[in-house]
Amino acid sequence: MLWLKLFVFLASLAPAIVFSGLAVAGAYSPDPGQALIIRFAHTATIFLLITLSLKPIATLKGLRPVIRFSRMAGLFCFFYALLHFLAYLAFKTGFMWSLFEMDLAKRPYVYVGMAAFVILALMAVTSTKWWQRRLKRNWKMLHRLVYLALILIIVHILWVARSDVWWTVIYGTIGTLLLAWRARLHWLKRRSIAAENRPS
Ligand code: HEM
Repeated sequence: MLWLKLFVFLASLAPAIVFSGLAVAGAYSPDPGQALIIRFAHTATIFLLITLSLKPIATLKGLRPVIRFSRMAGLFCFFYALLHFLAYLAFKTGFMWSLFEMDLAKRPYVYVGMAAFVILALMAVTSTKWWQRRLKRNWKMLHRLVYLALILIIVHILWVARSDVWWTVIYGTIGTLLLAWRARLHWLKRRSIAAENRPS
């Protein structure tokens, strides 16, 4: 398992190294900044969908162990979202507050992306066993916010979408299926609690 974990870790890190290397080598000219913003954005979104898919996959026969990769996938989602954010700040605003303010007025969808980013950051920080023990039942409730982050990200992408709408359709469809799976699980749980509490 340790070797598999190490392999998955290195494979997850590879896009960051490859994209940055290609940008430095000039493969994304004339606008490497824009290329990096977009590539990190898609990688973060894919990691979010992978993270959320692991739970339904783990319910399939013999695939329970995949759940052990949830935390790593979630942290990589945050890592790529952070790179997306940093690339945006570096290449669109030059880390200048006045330019950031002007850009926010031009692209209101950035607010939605930032709200999703805050949720991802909160979950990354509280993903340790220590926080799990400290927050007890609230930890589960907090980590359910990932579904709100998913909705916000779908809105963010739909808002940005220009000619290339295929990615939006694919992410939106997978995201909707995952939300439907989660809603069904919630409904089944409530139904079984109600059945247990019904007077016989
Ligand atoms: C930290 C806050 C965020 C900021 C400031 C931000 C900013 C942006 C900007 C400016 C674009 C348009 C890029 C362009 O085409 O010119 C964009 C697109 C996008 N963002 Fe974000 N974003 C944020 C959070 C997120 C998060 C958390 C995710 C996913 C986990 C995400 C995923 C995407 C995707 C998939 C696109 C579409 C890329 C494309 O055009 O193909 N963003 N974002």
